[in-house]
Amino acid sequence: MSKICFQKIRITEVGPRDGFQNIKHHIATEIKIKIIKQLIESGIKKMEITSMVSPKAIPQLADSKEVINEVLTLFPNLISHVLVPNLKGAQIVYDLGIRHINYVISVSPAHNKANINRTHEESIEGMKVIRQDFPDMDFTLSLATVFGCPFIGATSLYILLKLIEQAHQVGINAITLCDTIGVANPAQTQQILTILKNEFPDIDIGMHMHNTHGMALANMLVGLNNGISRFETAIGGLGGCPFAPGAAGNAATEDLVNMLNRMGYETDISIPNLLLCNETIKQYVEPNLLSSLSKARLYDEFNFNAKLLPIGE
Ligand code: COA
Ligand code: ZN
Repeated sequence: MSKICFQKIRITEVGPRDGFQNIKHHIATEIKIKIIKQLIESGIKKMEITSMVSPKAIPQLADSKEVINEVLTLFPNLISHVLVPNLKGAQIVYDLGIRHINYVISVSPAHNKANINRTHEESIEGMKVIRQDFPDMDFTLSLATVFGCPFIGATSLYILLKLIEQAHQVGINAITLCDTIGVANPAQTQQILTILKNEFPDIDIGMHMHNTHGMALANMLVGLNNGISRFETAIGGLGGCPFAPGAAGNAATEDLVNMLNRMGYETDISIPNLLLCNETIKQYVEPNLLSSLSKARLYDEFNFNAKLLPIGE
């Protein structure tokens, strides 16, 4: 008997970082923890819980130390990632017990400067020092503005390849391609993935797509079809970089999970539970969510799922 073959997809929820950083009003730490708890109850196993950056740059995440302490205490089984821009951030979160960081460099030099006040040389130097000083830290390189920049438009493929090469040389093998302003199109995504898979066949490529122009799911589908199995999404379609003017939210976790479930991929994430989490977010964080499922009938009394053909038949 041949078996139906499901591919396991790894979803990292980034709402508590990318989402909350872009909310104008203050969100109490206990509300953040309540939402993180609901996300875990939905089946989320990996989450970017906050960032460790200057509170002057991102006041919305000024409680990051409290969030980290609470999450590590209350949810020890969660794989907790924190975004850091520099050595200082890495040191602080390491001391707090975090062992997974997403280190951010923007492919666009102009956005790197606006976002984290660094040149590429400074960011690369920081990356090397962190890699060397914290050998037991799981290190993912998040590359911002891969598909376009709010200041210079198209970004350089040459710089993208050079940054990945430099990360690769110091043993960093997990790279997340971020469409910071949500302008990628499926043909561009295909082109970039083809080149990267050819140049760096052993690198774990993840995708972090914003939905500004409504193409985030289409781009992730291109990723799926190219064997990408790691995606970063935000509950409700929250999200946006305050230093990337005009960008809208991330691809929504519930919309990606819905698409994957319908297609027969395994996620182990419950859509009804994500929708409960939406209700909490609408109440305390943002009443107008951007995700499709937050506004639509689920039709979950029907089964529209794709009929998967058994392998070998
Ligand atoms: N965590 C917390 N505080 C930090 C920090 C970190 N990782 N890095 C620096 N700081 C503090 C410094 O202690 C200093 O504080 P002080 O003014 O009270 O003395 C202040 O920030 C400035 O430090 P400096 O090293 O001169 O940084 P900078 O002014 O060049 O700013 C960043 C650089 C990276 C700290 C800042 O641009 C930043 O936090 N950016 C984050 C952007 C972001 O999160 N974007 C969205 C996600 S992609
Ligand atoms: Zn983002």
